[in-house]
Amino acid sequence: KKTPIKDHFGRSLKDLRISVIDKCNLRCNYCMPKEIFGNDYAFLPEDQLLSFEEIVRLAETFAQLGVEKIRITGGEPLMRKDLDQLIAKLTIIPGIKDIALTTNAILLPKRAKKLKEAGLKRVNISLDAIEDEVFKQINGRGVVTLPVLKGIEAAQKAGLEIKINMVAKKGMNESQILPMARYFKGKDIILRYIEFMDVGNHNGWDYNNVISKKQIINTINEEMPLEPAEENYYGEVASRHRYKDGGGEIGVISSVTDSFCGTCTRLRLSADGKLYTCLFASGGFDIKEKLRNGLSEEELENELTSLWETRKDRYSDERAENKHKNRKKIEMSYIGG
Ligand code: GTP
Ligand code: 5AD
Ligand code: SF4
Ligand code: SF4
Repeated sequence: KKTPIKDHFGRSLKDLRISVIDKCNLRCNYCMPKEIFGNDYAFLPEDQLLSFEEIVRLAETFAQLGVEKIRITGGEPLMRKDLDQLIAKLTIIPGIKDIALTTNAILLPKRAKKLKEAGLKRVNISLDAIEDEVFKQINGRGVVTLPVLKGIEAAQKAGLEIKINMVAKKGMNESQILPMARYFKGKDIILRYIEFMDVGNHNGWDYNNVISKKQIINTINEEMPLEPAEENYYGEVASRHRYKDGGGEIGVISSVTDSFCGTCTRLRLSADGKLYTCLFASGGFDIKEKLRNGLSEEELENELTSLWETRKDRYSDERAENKHKNRKKIEMSYIGG
């Protein structure tokens, strides 16, 4: 292994978030509003997606450069054919200590067992409401919670560790903050609330719709007392809080009111082979083109190293300064969070 590389602010490169497809089977209104992502929306054509071989090659090189953790995202990653075969190849890369998948769980009943057999250890499942009426309003497809709950059950049966991600947004699902906590408490599943972020260009973000980490913690703490818990690993995005009665823990991801760019060790790879040094980047670095033109291993290492070494992103820290008001950003569904 080479010497670990650092960016402009001294941050190491530890995590690679790989988007494997930009399509999704839901149309959550804050992520892929159906008015924009309609029947005529131009998703990436198949030949523009990185092949599994290309993804694995990149992951191997990144592992050499210090990456220890891989996350598979989408769109909805389970819509990529034979995803378990990719997982199987990634889990055996020397240096990769953790592989996880972020999914809406709808396809998990069919896939959980195979994914586990391929070496996957854990899944983070998106669910923004526990009441059907609210969930139907959010996901743009009128889907009730049952298919997601079935997916969660399938993951549990298969022996996958589970976290639930709930985006909390005023006017959308504040009514679900407590019901979700009650539902998952004591089930050995970590529920994480995510502050509504200004990702992409179409989600109608407004600071007034953000429910802050403080508000979320206070709401839950009043009914089910909490105490802070230490972070599990350096730069964990969720701040952890334990139920005092032993009912497990929750997490809050506060990219808006308490940002965490200072410890951001994450690089993102899009399904069409572009590298993004920040979730809020406006442009990416096309590595697919170079791979397909046959660059050598040494050239690849040099490209990736210099990309990371010149990284200066700290969007969430700068948001308060209003620096980026009219900048065009990549879509959440394209880069997978
Ligand atoms: P764990 O490894 O289980 O801790 O997962 P994770 O929280 O790193 O990944 P997940 O895909 O579950 O992300 C949960 C939420 O955190 C998503 O809404 C992400 O967009 C958000 N998030 C993750 N990384 C970043 C980041 O670097 N910057 C910002 N602003 N948000 C992030
Ligand atoms: N703000 C916060 N989280 C978001 N996600 C998608 N869009 C947003 C947004 N604007 C979440 C998804 C998923 C995770 C990867 O990112 O719901 O749980
Ligand atoms: Fe919803 Fe996730 Fe699909 Fe976006 S990618 S529409 S948040 S399920
Ligand atoms: Fe990292 Fe950009 Fe998120 Fe800050 S805003 S934590 S730099 S991805």
